[in-house]
Amino acid sequence: NIVYLNGEFLSIEDAKVPVMDRGFLFGDGVYEVIPVYSRRPFRLGQHLQRLQASLDGIGLANPKTQQEWTQIIYRMIEQADYADQSLYLQITRGVDSRRNHAFPAVVRPTIFMMGEDLSTSSPEQREQGVAAVTAADIRWLRCDLKTTSLLANCLLRQMSVAAGCIETVLLRDGFLSEGSASNIFVVNDGMLLAPIKNHLMLPGITYDVVLELAAQHGLRSEVRDVREEEVRSADELWLTSSTREVLPIVTLDGKSIGKGVPGPVFANMYAWYQEFKA
Ligand code: PDD
Repeated sequence: NIVYLNGEFLSIEDAKVPVMDRGFLFGDGVYEVIPVYSRRPFRLGQHLQRLQASLDGIGLANPKTQQEWTQIIYRMIEQADYADQSLYLQITRGVDSRRNHAFPAVVRPTIFMMGEDLSTSSPEQREQGVAAVTAADIRWLRCDLKTTSLLANCLLRQMSVAAGCIETVLLRDGFLSEGSASNIFVVNDGMLLAPIKNHLMLPGITYDVVLELAAQHGLRSEVRDVREEEVRSADELWLTSSTREVLPIVTLDGKSIGKGVPGPVFANMYAWYQEFKA
């Protein structure tokens, strides 16, 4: 499988980054994960827009124009082993001669891209639902930036693995923020509830799609602060992400959500999503 590194297309074994790269030393970089269906990138414009917002947020100049990104991405897709894949793109603040927290005087960013098999979810996960746990959101206050500094997310995600679950739902000061690597939706009395996009969560591309589909199909939705009790007493709970699309969470901290099976609103949204992405 071919990867992209600083202008070259290489095999993954040949792609090497110096140890003085700030991505390695400080996690000083940003990234995107773009789903590709039948060799077509999904919502590319929105992903590139979010990439720009992340770069702006960490004070790193975008090394490529929208057109250049699009060209590289299409070349990656052409060469990929799979027609459906998740395309990973990361930009770090590059290599410095010394380990110094302050930015280098001259920044030459490291640009890396790779494709991975897109295994969204299994029929079993969609038909039976998945289990999740909750945890206090211990992350920083710029969760709207998609940075490669993901240690807190990794620790939080591992809590769900330890519990035999697939995601950790994060709560901050009694309110829902998101999952460790997903956004979270609540359905209560036929109303779709989603937290407000602010500095406490990643503005998910899938999140936007789900809200758009709800509006299109006449599903009532409300974007506002979602209280912990509303999460725990939800009729339905979903997670959304580029790599997992929409999945129903039916068990939270060992307790059933709703009837403990995927709900009817999820079934609708899943069908709308499949139709939309095709
Ligand atoms: N993660 N929130 C967090 C913390 C995430 O890491 C992600 C995605 C999302 C969902 O965003 P989107 O719908 O744009 O994928 C929300 C990606 C898939 C990852 O880190 O692999």
